Amino acid sequence: LQHFLTVKKLQVEQVESLIARATFFKNGGAVPQFETPLYAANLFFENSTRTHCSFEMAERKLGLQTIPFDPSTSSVSKGETLYDTLLALESIGVNLAVIRHSQNEYYRDLVELTPPQKLEMGIVNAGDGSGQHPSQSLLDMMTIAEQFGSFTGLKVVIVGDLTNSRVARSNMELLQRLGAQLYFSGPRCWYSEEFAAYGTYRPLDEVLPQMDVVMLLRVQHERHQAEADFSAASYHTKYGLTEKRYAQLKEKAIIMHPGPINRGVELSSSLVEAPKSRFTTQMQNGVFMRMAMLESVIRGRHLGGR
Ligand code: CP
Repeated sequence: LQHFLTVKKLQVEQVESLIARATFFKNGGAVPQFETPLYAANLFFENSTRTHCSFEMAERKLGLQTIPFDPSTSSVSKGETLYDTLLALESIGVNLAVIRHSQNEYYRDLVELTPPQKLEMGIVNAGDGSGQHPSQSLLDMMTIAEQFGSFTGLKVVIVGDLTNSRVARSNMELLQRLGAQLYFSGPRCWYSEEFAAYGTYRPLDEVLPQMDVVMLLRVQHERHQAEADFSAASYHTKYGLTEKRYAQLKEKAIIMHPGPINRGVELSSSLVEAPKSRFTTQMQNGVFMRMAMLESVIRGRHLGGR
């Protein structure tokens, strides 16, 4: 790939190939030796723990040098544009930029440049607004594949803050393409017709006993305008995974959450490390999937030699 921006155009074979490569790395397979030194910068304009540290770990495991970048102490605070920031980084030798930004499709202006503007660096999207979260989605697919082997006919419910969720938007794309049967649940007002092409809305207690995978979404308080009506206790009672609901799950069902978790809201705190929970596996898999994603851009752009 030239850049890794969205999962929308990923073919099934590409997803399978990325999962296979990430699994190879996870099982201790040899990391590629690139012919030229490579430099990456991680530009996180929104806060992050998992994605930021995981990309940095993946870069280090691949032998890349990481150039520290903190938006709050960079010249972005003086009004420098994203393009000019990347132009500066590219000029000093950065080959890859991993970017998280609050603006949906912030990358479009960077990859559709009109001469004389141009960038040679590869861009990897670490999350754009409510748009896409490709690395989270692919690590989720890897986690499901590890558990079930195949996606065909798997019943998956995505529960919660659908409107604001880039994780939901990426996952519904891939899950549908891979052959899973998709459902949505949580507050009805957070479900819209946008999701209808991918799956159907069902009340949580109706679907839970049939599901193979329960994907919980974080309630994104920072993206909700008016929070006056929101009650964590009420959300938990109506839409959260309580111990009582957990007991209704199929024997082989798994629960997933992209993190960070609002304990006692999306799920009971006691379930974070329950036997069906795959939260830590998701985070572990993230490093290996990000290695596979970075490698695909390095090879796609011939950055590490031919
Ligand atoms: N899942 C995820 O994107 O977490 P962070 O915001 O901590 O990166």
